[in-house]
Amino acid sequence: MDSFEFTKIAGAVLSALLLIFGVKTAIDMNVGHTPEKPGFVLPAAAPAAEAATSKEDAAATAPAAGGGGEDVIALLAKANPENGKAIFKKCQACHVSEKGKAATVGPNLWDIVNRPKASFPGFSYSEAMKSKGGNWSFEELAHFLHGPKTFIPGTKMVFKGLPTASDEADVIAYLATLADTPVPLPK
Ligand code: HEC
Repeated sequence: MDSFEFTKIAGAVLSALLLIFGVKTAIDMNVGHTPEKPGFVLPAAAPAAEAATSKEDAAATAPAAGGGGEDVIALLAKANPENGKAIFKKCQACHVSEKGKAATVGPNLWDIVNRPKASFPGFSYSEAMKSKGGNWSFEELAHFLHGPKTFIPGTKMVFKGLPTASDEADVIAYLATLADTPVPLPK
């Protein structure tokens, strides 16, 4: 086999290969590569789904966070101070409420309704409580007892809050009895 013959054979083989792969490539290009079913689904939908759930969460927690105010005020008219006295046992871990008694862990709660905040003599209040300002209206008591740290961030009252609006209303109705001249409950 001389070199000319070798070149001819090699050329024929290469042409054949070129033809085969050329045709295959052309077919591949025309068929395209979009698989009927993607191997995996891109997580593009996930953030939207998350946003939806967190919105739901927000909707679920919003009434609770906003609670402790007007709803409690509405409940006060038919609140049960006797039940409130029983619930007040939770508070007595830290508060006394008899007239003239010195403060314990927390300030004495005698005459608390409409009392200026952070005003019990000799009690060392947190800066947060001292700077809140105003008097303890029914509504503010409701907000505070619903979630002390939400209403006054930085308060040193370590209490997670009462579980229901009716408990809040009952305790507040009881607190209202602890005075020489009780503040009448809203009708
Ligand atoms: C674990 C102890 C603890 C418990 C339980 C607790 N408190 Fe308090 N409370 C405190 C402390 C301490 C303060 C002072 C908070 C501050 O200075 O930030 C306080 C402050 C208050 C104040 C503000 C008083 C003021 O003079 O301005 C009210 C009202 C109050 N508590 C009501 C209650 C009621 C009602 C309960 C029960 C439902 C309760 N607390 C349960 C410790 C407690």
